[in-house]
Amino acid sequence: MRPLHIVVLAAGKGTRMRSERAKVLHRLAGQPLIEHVLGASRTMNPASVTVVVGHQAEAVKAALAREKCGVVLQEPQLGTGHALLQAEPALKGAPGDVLLLSGDVPLLRGETLQQLVARHRQAGAAATVLTADVDGPHEYGRIVRENGAIARIVEHKDATEAERRIREINSGIYVFDLEPLFASLEALGSANAQGEYYLPDLVALYRGRGLTVETMRMPDGSEIRGVNSRAELAALSRDMRLRTCEALMSAGVTIEDPATAYIDATVEVGPDTIIHPNVSLEGTTRIGARCEIHSGSRLVNAVVADDVLIRNHCVIVESSIDAKATVGPFAHVRPESSIGPGAHVGNFVELKKTSMGPGAKANHLTYLGDATIGSRVNVGAGTITCNYDGEKKHQTVIEDGAFIGSDTQLVAPVRIGKGAYVGAGSSIVKDVPAGALAVARGKQINKEGWVEKKARQKRGK
Ligand code: UD1
Ligand code: CA
Repeated sequence: MRPLHIVVLAAGKGTRMRSERAKVLHRLAGQPLIEHVLGASRTMNPASVTVVVGHQAEAVKAALAREKCGVVLQEPQLGTGHALLQAEPALKGAPGDVLLLSGDVPLLRGETLQQLVARHRQAGAAATVLTADVDGPHEYGRIVRENGAIARIVEHKDATEAERRIREINSGIYVFDLEPLFASLEALGSANAQGEYYLPDLVALYRGRGLTVETMRMPDGSEIRGVNSRAELAALSRDMRLRTCEALMSAGVTIEDPATAYIDATVEVGPDTIIHPNVSLEGTTRIGARCEIHSGSRLVNAVVADDVLIRNHCVIVESSIDAKATVGPFAHVRPESSIGPGAHVGNFVELKKTSMGPGAKANHLTYLGDATIGSRVNVGAGTITCNYDGEKKHQTVIEDGAFIGSDTQLVAPVRIGKGAYVGAGSSIVKDVPAGALAVARGKQINKEGWVEKKARQKRGK
């Protein structure tokens, strides 16, 4: 098998984004543009991946730090032909082919790239261009054919009126045989409207030398659209999200309104789960089977088991929820929390670095931070773990079966023993032994007839 190398062009300025940030770092459906392209690249099992950076090079490099790819710098940016030439030191003398991708073309599917490479290899071509027929070719390069075969590519800015009427466009995605590539790139000129070294000029150069140039022509341009503006970013984001929703729906997930389901491509959802409108599922979130997630909830890197009910307007971040638990409405589950099987977290409850055991309940208006809560514990309304002394965070432990009365403050570090009771309105500053009742509040005094007495004083009698 011939080795396949991948080069991703990402050095351009992206002027029309009107952004301080590098274009390829703008997020599309939750992930930076470049991540989508690298994701499609990985499905090709490439021998190497090289990203050409230039504009905002340091930021792009930093974003790529954890990727298995090489980075080369193009400085200054003299066009796409010049950009690919910068990969020469990384690929010099390597056998095989190079697949050239654009960092700003995020919707390309792995399958399309597989077909493109297969086409290139079957034809034994020196270059293969991915093209598409589109309705409004706008600024794209046009494919000029002679006797059916591709003769050259002309950029919109350099095209004649007749050429501008051509509907077949250059996607900017190509496969090249490495053998003649770099020497030919050196021969490209820059006598054109933009004074740049155009990679598409390689087509005419190859044809002139009798090398085979192949095309793969797509019936429409939906996959090869690039992001050049914020409007295109939004439009392509929507298409990517719909694609993700369609894949989930065909795997048995009910999505009530795919137009408002914001589900990253990286998220997994089990069958028979129901997702209501306006739900965001982000990052590495995994949802089990038969769950229901109501409107307004946002889950980030969360792990949710089967049969979980998440009511409206919950924010759940980097936490796990076990089978048959219920959460919300209006719950905030902050990082490193875990909610045990069958546990209940109710409205206006905030958890932080807190684990709740099986069947534990905290149903109303509660803050539980740095707490370990056993099984079947009942946390009454308005309970607060006072976990912070102004300098350090401290732990609260509530053992199995304990009952915390409403409006209780648990001043950490503190431990409530197994099966113990805490009376409502208590400020607990000492450990409570297992099986004990702790009451820590002012004693109640009833003053009989007080109201009547007060009223008489007022009347001056
Ligand atoms: C390019 C093609 C055009 C094609 C279109 C498809 C050229 C000359 N034209 O035009 O035929 O229809 O893509 O989207 O290639 N880049 C660099 N260094 C540079 C210039 C660009 O790395 O010096 C990168 C950009 O970051 C981008 C890609 O190359 O990822 C394409 O560059 P862009 O300026 O967007 O080219 P288009 O004008 O869209
Ligand atoms: Ca472009």
